[in-house]
Amino acid sequence: MSHLDRQLVVLGLGYVGLPLVAEATRQGLSVVGFDVKTSIVEGLNAGRSHVDDLSDADVAALVAAGFCATTDPSCLATADVAVICVPTPLDDQKAPDLRAVRAAAATIRDHLHPGMLVVLESTTYPGTTDGPVREILEESGLVAGVDFALAFSPERIDPGNPVWNLRNTPKVVGGLTSACTDRAVSFYAQIVEKVIPTLGCREAEMAKLLENTYRHVNIALVNEMAVFSKELGVDLWEAIEAARTKPFGFAAFYPGPGVGGHCIPIDPNYLSHQVRTLGYQFRFVELAQEISTRMPAYVVSRVQNLLNTRRKAVNGARVLLLGLTYKPDISDDRETPARDVVRHLRGLGAHIVGHDPHLAAFDVDGEPVDMVSNLDDALTSCDIAVLLQTHSAYDLEHVAATAPLVFDTRGRMVGDNVDRL
Ligand SMILES: NC(=O)c1ccc[n+]([C@@H]2O[C@H](COP(=O)([O-])OP(=O)(O)OC[C@H]3O[C@@H](n4cnc5c(N)ncnc54)[C@H](O)[C@@H]3O)[C@@H](O)[C@H]2O)c1
Repeated sequence: MSHLDRQLVVLGLGYVGLPLVAEATRQGLSVVGFDVKTSIVEGLNAGRSHVDDLSDADVAALVAAGFCATTDPSCLATADVAVICVPTPLDDQKAPDLRAVRAAAATIRDHLHPGMLVVLESTTYPGTTDGPVREILEESGLVAGVDFALAFSPERIDPGNPVWNLRNTPKVVGGLTSACTDRAVSFYAQIVEKVIPTLGCREAEMAKLLENTYRHVNIALVNEMAVFSKELGVDLWEAIEAARTKPFGFAAFYPGPGVGGHCIPIDPNYLSHQVRTLGYQFRFVELAQEISTRMPAYVVSRVQNLLNTRRKAVNGARVLLLGLTYKPDISDDRETPARDVVRHLRGLGAHIVGHDPHLAAFDVDGEPVDMVSNLDDALTSCDIAVLLQTHSAYDLEHVAATAPLVFDTRGRMVGDNVDRL
């Protein structure tokens, strides 16, 4: 290795940037975090975490080990490596919104110096790193692959996952040139256990979108099957358990009230949008989107039918929603399908009560949901409890035994008063 990259600046200190900061600091690198949000920077420097995977004590330990956060981009002037971990959302037209990536690249451009390594980690369409990011960086007068190294490395962080973390999850890395790949592989080898080089940046960009699209399509497959299984009198959950006993050629996916989070509902759009520029559609993604988007309305129709069996209308019924975040045991409610469930229930006149051990407040279209903290009171006083998310804090047997009626969108409960998706 010609160069030992020890001075790191991470741009974007969220769910992806902070775990990278943490692991690099633990491995002894000198790490500065750059973010445009003053509140985030001040919080981190004061030892406060705003992501689930790091506690306040973890952040305080990082600061004690030398990490600092800043809004001052001059920290890039002495950096060996800059890694971009900023958001890649969709715009109003559901098209890729690369504004944060462009802004971060421009920040680096203003401090780019020969010999630097720049890595993009934000999920994006193939051609971003060697397209807009490269163009912005080269406005400095330096040439990518010659004066500085450029690579893409998709983040695979899975917030809340107790087994797989940044360090033990293999990291895919693709550079603009093979020398860029080698440099980026050597850099990440200091931080993670296994680095997988790809042919170039586009293959690394596509690998991430393939992973997310694979999940998206397979979740939509079981969501569609859940709807007709009910009508065919089949318990799909049991069928999935049976199918997954096959030791090869099958990976289990489970239906639910819809897809949520920063990745599954958003990232495949980056690919489908790019495919549309070729003059045709990425039909699997568009179909998956259509199917999973309908799930919240389907869940509400099942709740309506269930209340009907008790001669109750949704209008005026007290509906308790259990678990509002998009995945278990985290506090992230971005793109959670619970919002659409609330919208449909509100439209039918339900009185909605929410409970989530990870959320103190939950807003839908600017209107707060009535959040309760005493679960037992809420279970006994509701007309129906709807399990949207299986946080491990929930004692599901107790929920089934206490609520008068339960709709379980996660296939985890049994009982005469329980109906499953
Ligand atoms: N959250 C996940 O589970 C996950 C997993 C894999 C990949 N990703 C991808 O990683 C990327 C980042 O996602 P995230 O969840 O960490 O987002 P996040 O919103 O948690 O954090 C992003 C941070 O970037 C900051 N930021 C915005 N513009 C900036 C700029 N110009 N310069 C510096 N900082 C800036 C924001 O203030 C914020 O603190 C996205 O592309 C996402 O798709 C996320």
